[in-house]
Amino acid sequence: MTDGDDPLDKYERIARFYDFVDLPFEYLRYRSIRPLLFRDLNGRLLDAGVGTGRNLAFYPRGSEVFGVDLSPAMLKHAARRSKNSGASVHLLEMDLTRLAFADDFFDAAVASFVFCTMPAKARTAALRELARVVRPDGRVRLLEYAPAQTTFRRAVARVWQPWARWAFGAKLQHDIEPELAEASLEVISSCYVSSSIKLIGAKPAT
Ligand SMILES: C[S@@+](CC[C@H](N)C(=O)[O-])C[C@H]1O[C@@H](n2cnc3c(N)ncnc32)[C@H](O)[C@@H]1O
Repeated sequence: MTDGDDPLDKYERIARFYDFVDLPFEYLRYRSIRPLLFRDLNGRLLDAGVGTGRNLAFYPRGSEVFGVDLSPAMLKHAARRSKNSGASVHLLEMDLTRLAFADDFFDAAVASFVFCTMPAKARTAALRELARVVRPDGRVRLLEYAPAQTTFRRAVARVWQPWARWAFGAKLQHDIEPELAEASLEVISSCYVSSSIKLIGAKPAT
């Protein structure tokens, strides 16, 4: 995605096809790793860029989750899924770069496959917002595409890249991890959970 692309336009257009187009990736790659986002989390949580609500099935029972997204059309799909959640779910139209929550409001924030769709400036602003709204001893967890680990997977990513960019505005080979420090987030864990997807754990820097 170039920095000129507008995620709102893109996701308003693709929302009605999103789950269908994404289905093979969801079932072959994402579904098994989504629960890792929520391991040991509870209390008041933020699902940043909730999309069509694919994380909803994994929200910890009894937690209160605020799912926010720029796109009303994506949120409409998430609303349908929220009816069966074991958590108390609030879905809100909101820009991650300007969150309408007080400082330290959340026990933890998660985001899956969101930052790879954002222009560079917006990424930094949104990461700063996560650091602001999560309490000092809270957690931020990201599932994000990262440079693939093997030559073969890097070649596969190069083949998929134009399509991923066209469909989702996604940049598949970008590593967000080095950007966390400049947004006042301290990385406390990072590992590849598939050949080209990282699970990054962080906390607000003190
Ligand atoms: C690839 S989808 C991922 C959705 C979901 N997290 C998942 O795991 O399926 C990226 C989502 O991020 C949202 N998004 C992109 N930029 C955003 C921003 N600045 N503020 C809020 N949401 C944003 C898009 O509207 C879209 O729903």
